[in-house]
Amino acid sequence: MPTLFVGISELVQPHADEGNSKEPIDVITDAALLVDGGTVLAAGERVAVEKNPRAVHASVIDFDGRAVVPGLVDSHTHVVFAGERIDEFSRRARGETYEEIARAGGGILRSIEPLRVASVDDLVLQSLPRLKKMLAHGTTTVEVKSGYGMAPELELKQLRAAKALAAMTPASIFGTALAHVVPPGCTNRRQYINEFCHQVIAQAARQKLASYCDVFVEDIAFSLAETRIFANAAREHGLGLKLHVDQLTDHGGAALAAELGALSADHLEMTREPGRMLLAKAHVVATILPGCALFLGKDPWPNGRALRDSGCEVAVATDCNPGSSMLVDLCSCAAMAATRCGLSLEEALWATTRGGAKALGLNDRGRLVQGERADFVVVDHHDWRALFYNLGDGPVHGTYIAGTASSLKSPSTCP
Ligand code: NIG
Ligand code: FE
Repeated sequence: MPTLFVGISELVQPHADEGNSKEPIDVITDAALLVDGGTVLAAGERVAVEKNPRAVHASVIDFDGRAVVPGLVDSHTHVVFAGERIDEFSRRARGETYEEIARAGGGILRSIEPLRVASVDDLVLQSLPRLKKMLAHGTTTVEVKSGYGMAPELELKQLRAAKALAAMTPASIFGTALAHVVPPGCTNRRQYINEFCHQVIAQAARQKLASYCDVFVEDIAFSLAETRIFANAAREHGLGLKLHVDQLTDHGGAALAAELGALSADHLEMTREPGRMLLAKAHVVATILPGCALFLGKDPWPNGRALRDSGCEVAVATDCNPGSSMLVDLCSCAAMAATRCGLSLEEALWATTRGGAKALGLNDRGRLVQGERADFVVVDHHDWRALFYNLGDGPVHGTYIAGTASSLKSPSTCP
């Protein structure tokens, strides 16, 4: 039986394509939402939705004057990891930089050992609370990267944990095989890259553990030429391409993402105008991760405004990870995208809904229109902007996934 949600003060409807539009969303007042079988049957003005013949016998839920926005899509996370790196946060607060810590053997490499000794169940137990908090903040779709294993079996273990989490939560979880950095002591980079292509990318695709492949393109990680090798493997095995580019240096990462037709280019703190123009022309979603600049205490912030003005579609994600962005709350990232990266609140909403969906190549979510997923957030306020305004404490009355108020199974049911 369909469900008719009424008493919606404002229903936020992101446009399918943002393009260069200054107003990427519509806000419909006195709205209603009709849902059946996890998908939207109708959404819009209450009087119009109530005329839908399927609304007649629907059960009715009244949101009592609250606003509704589409479920948030966190298109870039490393949320499945083991251990912590609190000491590095402390070292940075005393003046060391992320690169200095990485070159001294810290950083990403420090996350290998805790991952190595953890079982899939351990990883699930450690990651589940983070995922629960994401949902509580309104996130309904989460991309999860590997990248802390640096050995094929460990990379696949991380992706298996993501898959196990997917079975425990109503949220949609999509895995990504991330070529992060070469393992410590690696003397033959080409051999490691081949191994990653054959034993991680190929296997993750075959075992349906990943939908995407990502590469950290950076001086301290992989070169442009090396990234092309991973990209070829990803294409061969049917994985979508996403790239970490221009986080610490601008050595042409954005241009490469454009050349390779990546779904998204992520970070972009250092990207300059030529790179932005190429991303726009190639329709690569520019994904900014404001939590990173905040957490690393590092300028510059990604320039969301310049990316938009260059014609890019912009997504915002948490980059949740133990080293550069220990943050689960996508609403706070949207708020920072507004206060520090130059987006309007409307653009930030687009960037965390439809923008996130586009960064994952998903066409069934990020809006609330007929035939698409009924993933939505009921804001505990009549004004949807309260979600971003109450920094760190966005008032979420309920997170609905496929039309149902979300809840997570307990870890004991872990497969
Ligand atoms: O997206 N930049 C590379 N990878 C992560 C950081 C991972 C870590 O430091 O553990 C990022 O910021
Ligand atoms: Fe990242």
